[in-house]
Amino acid sequence: AAQVDFYGERQAGITTPQQERLMFASLDVTTTDADELQRLLGRWAAMAARFTQGKPVSDSPGKPLAPPFDTGEAEDLGAYSLTVTVGFGASLFDDRFGLAGKLPAALKPLGTVPGDTTMRENFTGGDLCIQACADDPQVVFHAVRNMVRAARGTATLRWSQLGFGRASATGAGQTTPRNLMGFKDGTNNIHADDTAAVQEFVWVGDETDQQWMNGGSYLVARKIRMEIESWDTDDLEDQEKIFGREKSSGAPLTGGEEFTAIDFNRTGDDGEPVIDINSHVRLSSPEANGGVRLLRRGYNYTDGQDPDTGKLAAGLFFICYQRDPHAQFKVVQARLGSTDLLNEYIAHIGGGVWACPPGVTAAGDWFGKRLF
Ligand code: HEM
Repeated sequence: AAQVDFYGERQAGITTPQQERLMFASLDVTTTDADELQRLLGRWAAMAARFTQGKPVSDSPGKPLAPPFDTGEAEDLGAYSLTVTVGFGASLFDDRFGLAGKLPAALKPLGTVPGDTTMRENFTGGDLCIQACADDPQVVFHAVRNMVRAARGTATLRWSQLGFGRASATGAGQTTPRNLMGFKDGTNNIHADDTAAVQEFVWVGDETDQQWMNGGSYLVARKIRMEIESWDTDDLEDQEKIFGREKSSGAPLTGGEEFTAIDFNRTGDDGEPVIDINSHVRLSSPEANGGVRLLRRGYNYTDGQDPDTGKLAAGLFFICYQRDPHAQFKVVQARLGSTDLLNEYIAHIGGGVWACPPGVTAAGDWFGKRLF
C-alpha cells in the first residue's frame, strides 16, 4: 500500500492529497511535568514514523507475560497512505508547562463566532489533537488507539471522531467527492498544486509572533450535524439555491461545468441575482470575505442514531487549515453564521482550534520541538 513520508519540514496530512478515512482525537494533558509532555511528543513522533510505513509500534512483539507492544489490528494491512498530524490547543499554553509566553496571537480564543451557541462541551477543545488520515479505517483507528495508549499517565482522550468519506478534494486530479447532502464538496478548495495559494493562505511564515510556529499551520475543526431528515424533504430547486450550484454536476447556477467560475453579478429575468445573496458559495467566497481562502479537509461522519430523537446523527466533520484562524476561518464563519441559507439544515456541535507546528525532521526529533 502507498506510503506518505512522515519526516519533513512540514507535517503531512495538510496538503497531502486527502485520504478516504479519518480518525480525529482530542486529548487533555494530565501531567504537569514539561519533560514528560516532551517525552510523549517524542514517543508519538517515533510511533507515527513507524505507522506511516505500515510498521507496528515495535519490531519486537514484547514479552509473553506482558501486554504486546502493539495492539495488533493493523498487522497485515500496510500503510494505506497514513498521515498523522499533531496540534496544540490554546489550553496547553498555561503555567503548567511554562508555556504561557509562547501562545501565538493566532491561537488566542476566537471569541464569539456565530454557530457556537449549539456547541457541546463533550465534543469541544482539548490540549492536544491527533488527525490520522488513511485509505483504510482500521489503519487510522490503530494509529490513534496506540498513541492514546502510549499517553497513559500523561494525557487522556477527551473526545474523538471517525470520518468515513472524504468531503473535500485537496490534490490535483482528485475527483471532487460528495458530502452527505449529496453535493460535490471541495470544488473551489485550495488545491495542493496551487503552491502560490498554499503559501499565501496555509503555511505560517516569518510574520508569526512565535517563531516555533513558522512553517506550521492552524487547524480549525467543526463537528457540524446535518438535519438530514428535513433536508431530505426539501425540493431540488431549493437545495441548489442554498448552495448556488447544481446538485448533480456541481456547476454554478450561472452555467458551465463544475470548475467554471461563478458569475456572482448575473441577474435572472426577475432582476434578482442568479446566485442567491445568501447562498453558501456566495457568502463563503473570497469575493465576499476580502479575498480570504481556506484549505478545507473535512470528512463525512455518522455516530449512528441520536438516542433522544431517533434521527440519524450525521453530518460533516469540517476541518480547515490556514495561516491565521482569526483572519480566515472566523471571518468566513462570521459571514456564513448570520444569513447562510444552509443554516436551516445544520448545527455546529463541536470542534476546536489547534496549532500544528512544523514537521518532525528526523528520528529523535519530536512534535513542536522548538516550542520548548
Ligand atoms: C463551498 C458544503 C460548511 C467554507 C462549499 C460547497 C459546498 C459546501 C457543497 C461548494 C463546492 C466547493 O467549492 O467546495 C458545505 C457544507 C457545510 C459547509 C455541507 C456544513 C455542513 C462550511 C464552513 C465553512 C465553509 C463551516 C467555513 C467557515 C466554504 C468555502 C467554500 C465552500 C470557503 C468555497 C467558496 C468558493 O470560493 O466558491 N461548501 N460547507 N463551508 N465552503 Fe462550505
